[in-house]
Amino acid sequence: PKMFQLYVHKDKELNRSMVERCKAAKFDALTLTVDTIVGGNRERCLRSGFTSPPKITPTSFWSYAAKPAWGLNYMFRDRFELSNLKDHVSEGTSVPNSVADYFTNMLDQSLDWAMAEEIAKDWGGEFCLKGIMSVADAKRAVDIGATAIMVSNHGGRQLDGSRAPFDQLAEICDAVGDKLDVICDGGITRGSHVLKALSVGAKACSGGRLYLYALAAAGQGGVERILSLLQAEIERDMKLMGVTAVDQLNRENLRFR
Ligand SMILES: Cc1cc2nc3c(=O)[nH]c(=O)nc-3n(C[C@H](O)[C@H](O)[C@H](O)COP(=O)(O)O)c2cc1C
Repeated sequence: PKMFQLYVHKDKELNRSMVERCKAAKFDALTLTVDTIVGGNRERCLRSGFTSPPKITPTSFWSYAAKPAWGLNYMFRDRFELSNLKDHVSEGTSVPNSVADYFTNMLDQSLDWAMAEEIAKDWGGEFCLKGIMSVADAKRAVDIGATAIMVSNHGGRQLDGSRAPFDQLAEICDAVGDKLDVICDGGITRGSHVLKALSVGAKACSGGRLYLYALAAAGQGGVERILSLLQAEIERDMKLMGVTAVDQLNRENLRFR
């Protein structure tokens, strides 16, 4: 299944065009990320001067020089662009932007429940809210017609001090698990992490660094390798647990401290 992740930009035309393109390309689900109307204060990015596309600074120059294959590949392959944005805003192409600046300048900070409901209606299909961390918000997601939620704190990259999604999972599954699909997002790097989340009551897991590190290190082959390792771990651990189907996973497998 194909799922598109949408940010609500200030540019309403851009929002509309992305949803229309998803319909035309027959995407199965639309996910609206709701935890990112402003960029978190990512101190590591500030220290390293990270922007996208990269800006050459004295530190980044030495970093690229130490990895010549990466640097040459970057310079001579197709130009960096954010394909969905390039026809709408200059930030989609060549303007180096920190992630925090992108969120703060481009995204619509007036995003609210009414807007989310309108997007769900416009879309008309499977609709997921990404970034839900409380029972109250999970219930509200049901009310506006969401068919799934991602329990997520954006990989801990937004609100400093927020709890881990896994720690919020049980109460959210108990409240809404029979009304929509609950996806546990964040901190998943091993098959056993997936099995723990499914045991609590999640329908699925998702992640970012899980595949992005593999992508950065080894491209498509890296992602295929990490996914095959994850699958092998899930299957091996299920055998070790004496479980033959994921619907046999339940909280009896876990002890909470
Ligand atoms: C480099 C990077 C880029 C990301 N970009 C997006 C994005 O465009 N939209 C989004 O909803 N989440 C984005 N995320 C957050 C992930 O979707 C996911 O919520 C988070 O990474 C989960 O934590 P994990 O990295 O521990 O798996 C990004 C994460 C990383 C690391």
